[in-house]
Amino acid sequence: MRRGGQGRTVRLMKALIVYESQFGNTEQVARAIGEGVATGGEVEVVAVDVAPATLPADLDLLLVGGPIHVFSMSRAQTRADVAKDDRTPTQSGIREWLAGVTAAPTGLRIATFGTKQGHGRLSGSAATAAAKAARAHGMTVDAARDFFVTGRSGPLEEGELERASAWGRTLGR
Ligand SMILES: Cc1cc2nc3c(=O)[nH]c(=O)nc-3n(C[C@H](O)[C@H](O)[C@H](O)COP(=O)(O)O)c2cc1C
Repeated sequence: MRRGGQGRTVRLMKALIVYESQFGNTEQVARAIGEGVATGGEVEVVAVDVAPATLPADLDLLLVGGPIHVFSMSRAQTRADVAKDDRTPTQSGIREWLAGVTAAPTGLRIATFGTKQGHGRLSGSAATAAAKAARAHGMTVDAARDFFVTGRSGPLEEGELERASAWGRTLGR
């Protein structure tokens, strides 16, 4: 809440960003998007393992993002693969979270994002896969965007965090 003109109380836009990240790159993107969205409202950025399964009734904007694993959102088997890089995979992923989340409040704006290595059209997109899963779950998705990493464990390509933050500012308007 904040005070508007003539003492009126104006409700700030409320956003939730749920991210999955095995190596930290999608988390960085999520936080950069969050910085951008925060120029227009209140934002909470949460890891998928601790994300709420019930969406707040007063939520205005939901963003969901994760890494691409074998042309789509991760699965238990693909997450287990990150142990090869001495990483402890997350318990769950955005695929499972989207399948289990309660119905979205009416009017909720939703956007999805993903990180990926391949630039080719055939390399798949976790953002597109998440949008498809959300739509199958009855949600309306307004936008889906990919961000690029330079290798399996990152880092992000130059300028991606700025691009993420700029996208967040647009979504936060
Ligand atoms: C098991 C596995 C499968 C992957 N499959 C793909 C793929 O199909 N296409 C691609 O561009 N990148 C692929 N990658 C690289 C991911 O894009 C990269 O690990 C991810 O974006 C890093 O994000 P994170 O740090 O948030 O986990 C894969 C990585 C892993 C670990």
